[in-house]
Amino acid sequence: MAQPLKVGVAGLGTVGSALIAQVARQREALAARCGRGIEIVAVTARSRGKERGVDLKKMQWFPDPVALAKAPGIDVFVELIGGSGDPAKSAIEAALASGKSVVTANKALLAKHGVKLAAAAEKHHATINFEAAVGGAIPIVKTLREGLAGNSFERIYGILNGTCNYILTRMEQEKMSFEECLKDAQRLGYAEADPTFDVEGHDTAQKLAILASLAFGTKVDEKAIYVEGISSIQAADLAAADELGYRVKLLGVAVKTPKGIEQRVHPTMVRKDSAIAQVMGVTNAVTVDAEGIAPLTLVGPGAGGAATASAVLADIGDIARGVRTAPFGRPTARLSTVRKAPMQRHEGGYYIRLQARDKPGTAATIATRLAEQEISLESIVQRHAKGASDNEVKGGSVPVILITYATTEDAVRKALAAVGKDRVISGRPQVIRIEKN
Ligand code: HSE
Repeated sequence: MAQPLKVGVAGLGTVGSALIAQVARQREALAARCGRGIEIVAVTARSRGKERGVDLKKMQWFPDPVALAKAPGIDVFVELIGGSGDPAKSAIEAALASGKSVVTANKALLAKHGVKLAAAAEKHHATINFEAAVGGAIPIVKTLREGLAGNSFERIYGILNGTCNYILTRMEQEKMSFEECLKDAQRLGYAEADPTFDVEGHDTAQKLAILASLAFGTKVDEKAIYVEGISSIQAADLAAADELGYRVKLLGVAVKTPKGIEQRVHPTMVRKDSAIAQVMGVTNAVTVDAEGIAPLTLVGPGAGGAATASAVLADIGDIARGVRTAPFGRPTARLSTVRKAPMQRHEGGYYIRLQARDKPGTAATIATRLAEQEISLESIVQRHAKGASDNEVKGGSVPVILITYATTEDAVRKALAAVGKDRVISGRPQVIRIEKN
């Protein structure tokens, strides 16, 4: 059997520790599958003395990630530090410059510098593998890059953030507010102390940027993505969606359109009987519409030590076997610049919830403004809150829920701006895009 593959790991948080434990548990199976053993021989982390529940005695300790990345005794550098800059970036660059292949779970770094790092890997005849950066244990990178290498892609969409899906699931099932669910997610350790990055959609956007590049052969471009988070979603929206046969999910969607590639992250209404609508709690899922096959949905754990370590180890296994695939599915010189489809030209159905003045003529005014933009309505529902008294109803306002047929983002924005000027509604209209599936 060939010499064991010698691995250095930078970052010993939950993922690094889980990786060390999994390599120990799977030692024999890995050697049999890869034709050579896999050994973690060196590590580095911020604190040396911390108890991690794994045995580090046989591993060489390095004072910093760059020193580990350059160490002559290792074949593969595994980056589990995180963050879009240094030390993760400089350590990966140092490893690639010395001809070592890299495995990383770092979506932030790839979303920002992915193409540059892939080019560095090419230059030095190494590779950079990143299955763990998107969807945790779900093998979506390999599915797009290898499993579907012979298909063209129409659309790819997914639930890529467990925190948001957990919050939306509890809001729907327990009729709780966004704020209450977020607090629970933080208490249970799903959400970060500063949850903005997750709940405002940026984590999903970074993952989507990577998937879109793999699917459409474009350069990773996080800035081309329209991003809207879930903090404005109310329990009333989830209840209305339920009555109308939908669920609300935070989706990352990349779709080929005649105007270019549309990349967007926003709360989305999906039909309740679709595969993606069944995905609850912290679980992730990705649906791929590829030419010639029915939609393919992969579902699984999207975060956490064991799930992420599983993907990292599969990537290390590929290097042990001698498999070297272009990181984004084709040489970097053949990745094109994204032709970004403007969001104003997005076409689809819309859910709109307005708090309307309860006076004769209000519905007619709203309908007129929509008609002016050639927006056709599938349904319009006006409903008083349960238990509202006659007096409250007379003096106040009522929620009006509209479902449109396919129209454009631009038309919806113009119609709602006009309704706003007519002073027949109070507060901001709630708008949720409907995704066909
Ligand atoms: N914060 C992410 C989530 C996990 O909630 O899914 C890491 O990508």
